[in-house]
Amino acid sequence: MSRTARWTRRNQELAERGLRRAVRTLTPTGPTTGVLDGREVIVACSNDYLGLAADPQVQAAARGGGATGSRLISGSRPAHRALEEALEDWLGRPALLFNSGYQANLAVLSTLPEAGDVVASDALNHASLIDGLRLSRATRRIVPHADPDAVGDADYLVLEGLYSMDGDVPPLTRYPEAPLRIVDEAHALGVLGPEGRGASAAAGLVPDVFVGTFGKAGGSAGAFVSGPAELIDLLTSRGRSFIFTTALPEPVAHMALAGLTRLRTADDRRERLAANVRRLRDGLAELGWQALGDHHIVPIVVGDGAMDLAARLLDGGVFAPGIRPPTVPAGQERLRLTVSSEHTEAQIDRILEVLGPC
Ligand SMILES: Cc1ncc(COP(=O)(O)O)c(C=O)c1O
Repeated sequence: MSRTARWTRRNQELAERGLRRAVRTLTPTGPTTGVLDGREVIVACSNDYLGLAADPQVQAAARGGGATGSRLISGSRPAHRALEEALEDWLGRPALLFNSGYQANLAVLSTLPEAGDVVASDALNHASLIDGLRLSRATRRIVPHADPDAVGDADYLVLEGLYSMDGDVPPLTRYPEAPLRIVDEAHALGVLGPEGRGASAAAGLVPDVFVGTFGKAGGSAGAFVSGPAELIDLLTSRGRSFIFTTALPEPVAHMALAGLTRLRTADDRRERLAANVRRLRDGLAELGWQALGDHHIVPIVVGDGAMDLAARLLDGGVFAPGIRPPTVPAGQERLRLTVSSEHTEAQIDRILEVLGPC
């Protein structure tokens, strides 16, 4: 048997179960279009909800070099501080940068709750929140999705502002006030709330721990945690995914700052996005498709047929992959359409046309 035979066997098993994944190359030709494996497509699966990844100011901001090490070892760069100061100006509390939302969530969940703490975590929380909790010595209490009554006497409560695979906002104001609240605003940031400050801000709340990313509506990459100064201190000293990794490269920090600056004043884009969401959701309802949620993530649960439906869309020039286990539970495979402020009405109509009646 060859040295790699065991990996081959596992790949074959995944393929037999329809779970083998492969990356495809998309060459962007505009904020909502690209060439995928040689064919032109409308992109309906990007998290670039405000089209800022294609924004000339964001792209032109990139300059400088690699961070050369952890900020604690080889020094922070002015671009890192400038970005953290801009975040503080925006959200009113200090912030600490991370290389990705995944790493931010690992740091938050593995550092804050301690042995003996009970952490109530929504059943649909993102893998990065789950993995962070797996590194924690606290007791996990997985609570039904969007159910404030199930939280009980937990010490911490972990939620997403807008759920990435179900597209809904949990009833944030109905949860008990006692637990320290950690909210991952990855998909709400830039879109919901005043100046795009997220679902919590839209509900008039300030979570104890606020996690945000720059890689979605921000149009670049990287992430941050914002909260009280004590939180930032603790993560700086104990957050392993902050300490033991090379910091964000300067070009990315500059792009993130440009994206944040654009995003704060992008009410025009937020309005266009809301109009596009309405057009797509109304069109889907007319065609008999039932979509989850109310916002710019538009999941259609179809079960087993999700990959076939995605293939049919691609045949018609629409790129929106099917989502399958382990991202969602078996039986709940879905098509996940995402809307951008930069989709034209004609593109939204084309997506509906290709999808056709349910
Ligand atoms: C809810 C949520 N949190 C965190 C992340 C991770 O963010 P990043 O892509 O910056 O690692 C994602 C991204 O996929 C997400 O959907």
